[in-house]
Amino acid sequence: MKRIAVIPGDGIGIDVTRESMRVLRRISETFSAELEFVEFDWGAEKYLREGVTLPAGSLEMLRRDFDAILFGAVGDPRVPDQKHAAEILLALRFGLDLYANIRPVRLFHERLCPLKGVSVADVNFTVIRENTEGAYVNSGGVFKRGTADEVATQLEIHTRKGVERIVKYAFDYAQRRGRSRVCMSDKSNVMGYAGDLWQRCFREIAAQYSDIETSHLYIDALCLLMVRQPRDFQVIVTNNMFGDIVTDLAAALQGGLGMAASGNINPGNVSLFEPVHGSSPPLAGKNIANPMGSILTAAMMLEHCGFVDAAQAVENAVIACVSEGKTTRDAGGNLGTREVGDAILSKL
Ligand code: NAD
Ligand code: IPM
Ligand code: MN
Repeated sequence: MKRIAVIPGDGIGIDVTRESMRVLRRISETFSAELEFVEFDWGAEKYLREGVTLPAGSLEMLRRDFDAILFGAVGDPRVPDQKHAAEILLALRFGLDLYANIRPVRLFHERLCPLKGVSVADVNFTVIRENTEGAYVNSGGVFKRGTADEVATQLEIHTRKGVERIVKYAFDYAQRRGRSRVCMSDKSNVMGYAGDLWQRCFREIAAQYSDIETSHLYIDALCLLMVRQPRDFQVIVTNNMFGDIVTDLAAALQGGLGMAASGNINPGNVSLFEPVHGSSPPLAGKNIANPMGSILTAAMMLEHCGFVDAAQAVENAVIACVSEGKTTRDAGGNLGTREVGDAILSKL
């Protein structure tokens, strides 16, 4: 029995998580994947109503009582500074020390790729994004705010422990998945101090994996090559901010944000699974959002929980629907969120 905490969040996070839950309930009936769900209403609505973002004791409770977390998305125009998003999602990533953000980039049908002449075999790589430090520590300050002389600083923090563990995670991931290439990407030509640490850690750890071929690209060049020659890539490891940016670009290669899945992992802690996309307020509640990213995320979570066959079945069901054009409009079809959920369920 695995206990799953479900946090739909805001906007289309709620729409897509509803479909993932139908898929997971079906899986728990038809596979020997015993799952129990507890839903939490953390998000903008609760914040605006009660002033509460992540309730006190949540991290301990999640660690103690759950095997995994399925997350939708957070973000609401009624909270202009998105304070609740930082206090929920980033607080979970940081508080649970979910240091590896795993974002697989796979093309399920040529039709979904905006590039010409690209086949499904050409887009099949994973971005391993550092998830607990870098620019996301939100350290800095402001001086003379609101005056003509104002100054803002925004600090990045890169620790040896943090860099070593994410680089190591990338090599182990490659080995586990039968991948032979790892590319590290940074901006060490300009950001020399952080770049030096990343470069040295990468070289030191690479030396322990003689069967894996390594390469390095500056992040701007990575963006170019990801579009020009996506098939060059197998595993990419990069920092928090570059990983955020490059995975939206990568999502475009696989058919858009509606198709992209992710896991926020700490191998020794309760891990959190979420689609790469946000809450897309304009689409919310309209039966338009693509639920496939969330459903593929649920498959990643199943695999993480040890239900490998069930995970594969869910992924196959999504691939079958994509091949038959049973998708939402963003992915070229004409179905609604719910109807895509129905189509996926009918394959299970
Ligand atoms: P977004 O991912 O919500 O949307 C970007 C674009 O992709 C929009 O055009 C949107 O309609 C489209 N899109 C995204 N998901 C889709 C889906 N499932 N189906 C169809 N189309 C989809 O990003 P944004 O507009 O920059 O941000 C909206 C809010 O979400 C902001 O408050 C932002 O901070 C938040 N956000 C949250 C997360 C998260 O919770 N993990 C991630 C990204 C953004
Ligand atoms: C993502 C999102 C988040 C991030 C935001 C919502 C804080 O863009 O998961 O990619 O920047 O990590
Ligand atoms: Mn992002």
